[in-house]
Amino acid sequence: MIVLSVESSCDETSVSIIKDGTIVLSNIVFSQIDVHKAYGGVVPEIASREHVKGITVVFEEALSEANVTKEDIDLVAVTKGPGLIGSLLVGINAAKAFSFANDIPLVGVHHIAGHIYANAIEEPLEFPLVCLVVSGGHTELILMRDHYQFEKLGETQDDAVGEAYDKVARTLGLDYPGGPVVDKLAQQGEPTYPMPDLTKQPGYMFSFSGIKSHMINLVHNANQRNEALRVNDVCASFQEAVTDVLVEKSKQAITEYEAKMFIVAGGVAANKGLRKKVYERLPNIKISVPDLAYCTDNAAMIGVAGYYQYITREKTDTMALKGFSRTPLK
Ligand code: KG4
Ligand code: ZN
Repeated sequence: MIVLSVESSCDETSVSIIKDGTIVLSNIVFSQIDVHKAYGGVVPEIASREHVKGITVVFEEALSEANVTKEDIDLVAVTKGPGLIGSLLVGINAAKAFSFANDIPLVGVHHIAGHIYANAIEEPLEFPLVCLVVSGGHTELILMRDHYQFEKLGETQDDAVGEAYDKVARTLGLDYPGGPVVDKLAQQGEPTYPMPDLTKQPGYMFSFSGIKSHMINLVHNANQRNEALRVNDVCASFQEAVTDVLVEKSKQAITEYEAKMFIVAGGVAANKGLRKKVYERLPNIKISVPDLAYCTDNAAMIGVAGYYQYITREKTDTMALKGFSRTPLK
């Protein structure tokens, strides 16, 4: 079965061709990062326009690199949300047009289901599994007892982890997007700055607004006193505190639900500190962290999720499929 998938929920225009839910025949990603860099963040209206500019070319490239034609495609999968509504609509309309013109079934896929299924590209998922979702908009622990069954165990009460990384980077005057830069500097520093205790939230709940404010105060106080901060150590301290709570709560969930597998999903899964700590602290379980290319937004993950959604639910969407800026994972 060959799936053509489309992702356009934020600032990457991406189309991928997936065979049998696991083999990536192509995964073309046009990143808009350089366009948004000047503004220090994604500008929604500009993002929509960039998607319009890129989408047709990305479709053509994905088909040609995979060496398939439209007649070979059995299913079209597209991100339906959550995301920037204008951006989503560009991908959804392109997917609908391709589906309608070629009479191919269509499924709308939840963006986070995509991030989760990035872990099924290299090896099969084993259930029950615990998934740590860490992206620019989400931080949550999810239990899956089978394919396409998502039970939310807990989530952040305020900021998402990726959002906190980006804000901290901005406060430190680092480049956008901040997550990868903070991660890189953290590798060159030591966690010598005291950080607030992040384990106070009950159960599987998280909170990152406190550490974000702490970091902003740290920088402002240093500026006012004309003191130089050891930026590498500041980044290392922040990263240590954040990854500690993520891994500790994951460990609790693995034990409580007797998970056979632990997976990490979302852009922050690219974080070197987190990847290392997961393997160090969770030794007696099968662990999967996506290949770096499949951590941040891409259509391959949407194609894999779309494949499993289609075979487990046997339900398709119609031309009435809409985009959703917010929508629950279910
Ligand atoms: O999953 P993603 O591509 O988009 C959303 O669905 O939100 O995640 C983007 C987020 C950004 O906040 C970015 O700074 C963060 O992932 N990120 C990282 C790293 N690479 C990307 N955060 C920490 N360390 C990284 N290496
Ligand atoms: Zn994402």
